[in-house]
Amino acid sequence: MKTIDEYNFAGKKALVRVDFNVPLDAEYRITDDTRIRAAVPTIQKILADGGAVILMSHLGRPKAGPEEKYSLKHLVSRLSQEFNTNVLFAEDCVGPQAAQLAQELKPGEILLLENLRFHKAEEKGDADFAKELATLGDVYVNDAFGTAHREHASTAVIARYFPKDKVMGYVMNAELENARRVLGNAERPYTAIMGGAKISDKILIIEKLMDRVDNLLIGGGMSYTFVKADGGEIGSSLVEEDKIELAKRLIGMAREKGVNLMIPVDSVVADAFSNDANIDNSLSHHIKPLWMGLDIGPTAREMYADVIRNSKTILWNGPMGVFEMSNFSVGTEAIADAVVDATRMGAYSLIGGGDSAAAVNKFGYADKVSYVSTGGGALLEYMEGKTLPGVAAIERDDY
Ligand code: 3PG
Repeated sequence: MKTIDEYNFAGKKALVRVDFNVPLDAEYRITDDTRIRAAVPTIQKILADGGAVILMSHLGRPKAGPEEKYSLKHLVSRLSQEFNTNVLFAEDCVGPQAAQLAQELKPGEILLLENLRFHKAEEKGDADFAKELATLGDVYVNDAFGTAHREHASTAVIARYFPKDKVMGYVMNAELENARRVLGNAERPYTAIMGGAKISDKILIIEKLMDRVDNLLIGGGMSYTFVKADGGEIGSSLVEEDKIELAKRLIGMAREKGVNLMIPVDSVVADAFSNDANIDNSLSHHIKPLWMGLDIGPTAREMYADVIRNSKTILWNGPMGVFEMSNFSVGTEAIADAVVDATRMGAYSLIGGGDSAAAVNKFGYADKVSYVSTGGGALLEYMEGKTLPGVAAIERDDY
């Protein structure tokens, strides 16, 4: 398997699967362009070699065919500005217009295809659809790490039509390298910070991390399932009743394996799920009825920050509270501060998952940590030890 640096794209049309699943506001403006910026080096390398670029991506989860809010045409002006060229757009990712635009594409030009998921065949991994896409290019580049856990036509199936001409892009390489760093012989103390709403999304990774980390700091909505499992009164905080036994098991597992599992001792609580609600601080184990924990409290912030600042490897996935609301963003920002400090003092820090990446971007810390992953579910699945179909399809050489 060639690397992207070994591949010469001169005179070739490169069909590049990117993950341009970016958030758009009501006026279809891009609110976070991290994934677009991440794809720039791969696209530039192809253009610099003298190749042409055909970009394909999904956007959102359209249910029944084309929908304005999921159209990739909203990205054309941003891409044209980035590459200082008039990026062409095919209104359907397959069919006569796409075929003609691809055929006429010249070196140095960029063509963006409409949302792949406007065809159900994409998610079904349909081989005929993949084959039709494949006719558009001479070489297949997969740079969509964020979608590598999906066995879709454009991520996994299409690679078989390019047995000798398939490579991973720079995003894919960087993501795998950074994920492997926290999976391998990471420098100790190693601290994982797990946040977000639900334990159910994180069970496998938490179990996996128990064998690697020294500290496991729990935050976000899922904290309250742990607090309840530990005998606490959590008022109306979010809880997954059917995961309480599991949380107890994880607490026991941490004890057995000598992992310092920390649940926030205190919380910022509110009497409604709103930034305008009445707020207070409370011990997490004694939250009043009808009140809910929406962020880690001041003591937890200090305790967590102390552990983080003394760590040499840090993996952070999921926010500590409802950081989109200013009254409940303090915990996430305090953790981001501590991660930045630790990184400055020489620690390696990997921030993964859509929400925690959005949080470090929001606080302007993205370039002060070691690596911010563009992957949400893909990173988690990789860390859980699963094979990512998008990666496997490039690596296999038996077609
Ligand atoms: C993501 O945002 O995690 C990726 O783009 C994958 O999107 P999906 O979960 O809709 O497949």
